Amino acid sequence: MSEWSAQDFHDWASQRQQRIERVLAETLARAGVPSRLQQALQYSVLGGGKRLRPLLVYAGAEVFGASIETVDSVAAAVECMHAYSLIHDDLPAMDDDVLRRGRPTCHVRFDDATAILAGDALQALAFELLAAPLHPPCSPALQLQMIGELARASGWQGMVAGQALDIAATGNVRSEQELVDMHGLKTGALITASVLLGALGSGQASQTSLAALRQYAQWLGLAFQIKDDILDVEASTAVSGKQQGKDAKQGKVTYTSLLGVEAARQRLAAAAAEASRALGAVEGHVAVLRCLVRFVVERES
Ligand code: IPE
Ligand code: IPE
Ligand code: MG
Ligand code: MG
Ligand code: MG
Repeated sequence: MSEWSAQDFHDWASQRQQRIERVLAETLARAGVPSRLQQALQYSVLGGGKRLRPLLVYAGAEVFGASIETVDSVAAAVECMHAYSLIHDDLPAMDDDVLRRGRPTCHVRFDDATAILAGDALQALAFELLAAPLHPPCSPALQLQMIGELARASGWQGMVAGQALDIAATGNVRSEQELVDMHGLKTGALITASVLLGALGSGQASQTSLAALRQYAQWLGLAFQIKDDILDVEASTAVSGKQQGKDAKQGKVTYTSLLGVEAARQRLAAAAAEASRALGAVEGHVAVLRCLVRFVVERES
């Protein structure tokens, strides 16, 4: 199948969303964890979210013909990393948000200490999952490459760096280039890692394809965060599951605060077009990656 209908994509995505839900639920059902911590982990990870990053892992692998079970643990790893980032992002010392995925945030439902620890645990769990054998196994060198990719994407030169810039930028007007850099780190880095980890996990991606996928995912990540900024202005709390208008209230520097909604929309379209263009150099079946661009642009939550 070279091009996909909206229904094809919908079916593909919902099967994988259900699958990752199961994988995560099984992972978090382990015995021997202090019960309040385990409840906080299950509360924050299960039963909500679009699962975009696991979808990108699966897509990255399937583009090169790998079967989805090969990268289940990789998909779970990136979602754990993402869930940790949300829990900490919502803390009073960070964005101080009380609503996430339509429910009280982790620190509101539990307490600050539990939320901090839940985030810590999820970050470590992500690496534990990534270090587990793949099915079928890949070479130790490849697996080390994958672990390094996630570490770089999520740490002090990746997502955490972006979060630090976000905090530093609050209340200050910055240039558009600074915004591109900040968004690329706080959101784009993990999105990029998701696509690349899937492709690496397939064991079949050429260097040319990996380079093109990196381009694709960087543009997709930027588009994703521009859309997040727009939704903060436009999407009702009931639809987004997050408090509408929170960015402006906190003086966050976003695409909409810096450029206005109309220009933000143009930048979104341009980033999406660049993402699609990058797919031209990928040597695989990219229809699903094309659909994921539309998913990011058209999402309402
Ligand atoms: C929200 O991510 C945080 C950002 C990086 C902008 P998502 O919009 O993917 O959140 P969920 O997982 O679907 O709730
Ligand atoms: C969050 O960005 C990025 C990370 C969690 C790393 P935002 O602060 O814009 O995300 P939301 O809007 O709270 O989901
Ligand atoms: Mg934030
Ligand atoms: Mg936030
Ligand atoms: Mg936001």
